[in-house]
Amino acid sequence: MPIRPVLTIGNPLLRRVARDLEPAEIRSRALRALLDDMVETMHHEEGIGIAAPQVGESVQAAIIEIDVESSRYPGQEPFGLRVFLNPRVTVLDPTEQGFWEGCLSVPNLRGFVERPRRVRVDYLDVDAHERTIEAEGFLATVFQHELDHLQGVLYVDRIRDMTRLATIEDYLRYWRETPGEEHLPD
Ligand code: NI
Repeated sequence: MPIRPVLTIGNPLLRRVARDLEPAEIRSRALRALLDDMVETMHHEEGIGIAAPQVGESVQAAIIEIDVESSRYPGQEPFGLRVFLNPRVTVLDPTEQGFWEGCLSVPNLRGFVERPRRVRVDYLDVDAHERTIEAEGFLATVFQHELDHLQGVLYVDRIRDMTRLATIEDYLRYWRETPGEEHLPD
């Protein structure tokens, strides 16, 4: 179960639409091994989510885990580790909310992104059972960010005001205290 290198922006694989997993694949050893690698890599990189394309596999699989204990996310609700296979996102409330986002595949940068505030995700779990989950606020943004990776989309594509793309250093210097904006580390 090795930690894998994380692909970074510029790698064409990150820009592909990942393919759906077949039911038979979902229970396969190969997929279990991939998911284990994704979890290890996400923990190693201290991310709160990771998508298969980020470790070089263009398939519809993503993992999200918000561990508030160990984290840089004080004040957020914890979210236990969950695997999303073949997910589909539906917007439930298009009212937008903005967060400063980061991404393991876009090192050393932060950008301000506005997204719908409430979504539903229909997906398969590791046993290929159909599941549905709704999320709002911070978690809704995390879901959309992660699942965008499966469509070949990076958060930087969704920044409308490019003056709000910053190095982490300049983000901390100039933007962290911006009133009325919420801030989401990687
Ligand atoms: Ni990301």
